[in-house]
Amino acid sequence: LWTAGNIVADAIERIRAEVGTSQVLLGLSGGVDSSVVAALLHRAIGDQLTCVFVDNGLLRLNEGDQVMALFAENLKIKVIRVDAEGEFLRNLQGEADPEKKRKIIGRTFIDVFDEQAGRLQGIEYLAQGTIYPDVIESAAAKSGKAEVIKSHHNVGGLPEEMNLKLLEPLRELFKDEVRKIGLELGLPYDMVYRHPFPGPGLGVRILGEVTKAHANLLRRADAIFIEELHRAGWYHKVSQAFVVFQPVKSVGVVGDGRRYAWVVSLRAVETIDFMTARWAHLPYELLETVSSRIINEIEDISRVTYDVSSKPPATIEWE
Ligand code: XMP
Repeated sequence: LWTAGNIVADAIERIRAEVGTSQVLLGLSGGVDSSVVAALLHRAIGDQLTCVFVDNGLLRLNEGDQVMALFAENLKIKVIRVDAEGEFLRNLQGEADPEKKRKIIGRTFIDVFDEQAGRLQGIEYLAQGTIYPDVIESAAAKSGKAEVIKSHHNVGGLPEEMNLKLLEPLRELFKDEVRKIGLELGLPYDMVYRHPFPGPGLGVRILGEVTKAHANLLRRADAIFIEELHRAGWYHKVSQAFVVFQPVKSVGVVGDGRRYAWVVSLRAVETIDFMTARWAHLPYELLETVSSRIINEIEDISRVTYDVSSKPPATIEWE
C-alpha cells in the first residue's frame, strides 16, 4: 500500500541495512530533493550523516541562514556551511556568456565540495537526491542542457579519490511522492512546496557579468515579488516565479530629479512538466503592487517589466 509512512519506514530499513555503521556525506542545496534525503537519512542513521551546504553567493535573500536554521538548529543535523561567495564571484568575474557561466559555477561547486569532502575522515557513502525523472533524463539525454543540469546538480561532486559508494534513496520516486515523504518527515510545507530553483542559482538570472552588487539588487527585488505572490494567494497557483536582472539602464523621474537606473523583469509561469510553460496571467493589481514596491524600495531600479513569453520558444530562465 502506498502511503508516505510506509515508504519512509521501508526506506529507513533499506538504508540501515545497506549503510550499517558507515559514515555518509550529502551535498545539501536546500532544494526539495536533497532536503528530503537529509531528513530521511537523519531519521535512519542519525549522526552518521554529515551534510555540506555550499553558499555560492547566488542564493535568494536569507536563504543560507534559512537552510541552517531548519537543518542544523531545528532538525539537529550535522551541516557544514561553506561560505564560498568570494570564490564563485572571482571565478565568474568578466564572464557574460551563459553557457560559460554555468560551467564556471558547476566547476567551482565541485572544487569547493571536493575540498570539504576531502577533509572529512572515514566517509564511505555519498548520498544524492536523484529522483526517478532524473534517472530517465540522464539515460535519455547524453548531451545538451539536461546533461549540464545533471553534471552540476546530481552527479557532480563525487570526490573520485575518495572512492565513495552512491546512496540514492529517492531513485524510484516521483516529485509529488518526494514531497509527501518530506511532509511525513516533518519538513515544513513551505519548503516542500517551494518553487524549483536552478542549480546555478541567480547566476542564470543576472544577465551579463555576475557581480555582488547586481546579485544584491536582484535578491531584494525577488523577495518583494515572492512576498507579494504569497500575500495575494498566487504563489502556489504558479509553478515558478522570479525576477531577472538586466544589465540595462533606463531613465525615470523621482520628485524633481531624474533617475538613471537598472531594469528588472518579472517572470511567472504555469507548467506541468517544465518542458513547456505558459506565462502566468497574474492580475494587473498584483503586478502594479510589485512594480511600485520594487521601484520605490530599491533606489537602483528604475523600471519593472513583465515577461509574456511562453515556452517554447522562450525558455523559463533567461539564460
Ligand atoms: P528552462 O529555462 O530550460 O528551465 O526552461 C526549465 C526548468 O529547469 C530549471 N533550470 C535548471 N536547473 N540547473 C538546474 O538545476 C540549470 O542549469 C537549469 N537551467 C534551468 C529552471 O529553473 C526550470 O525550472
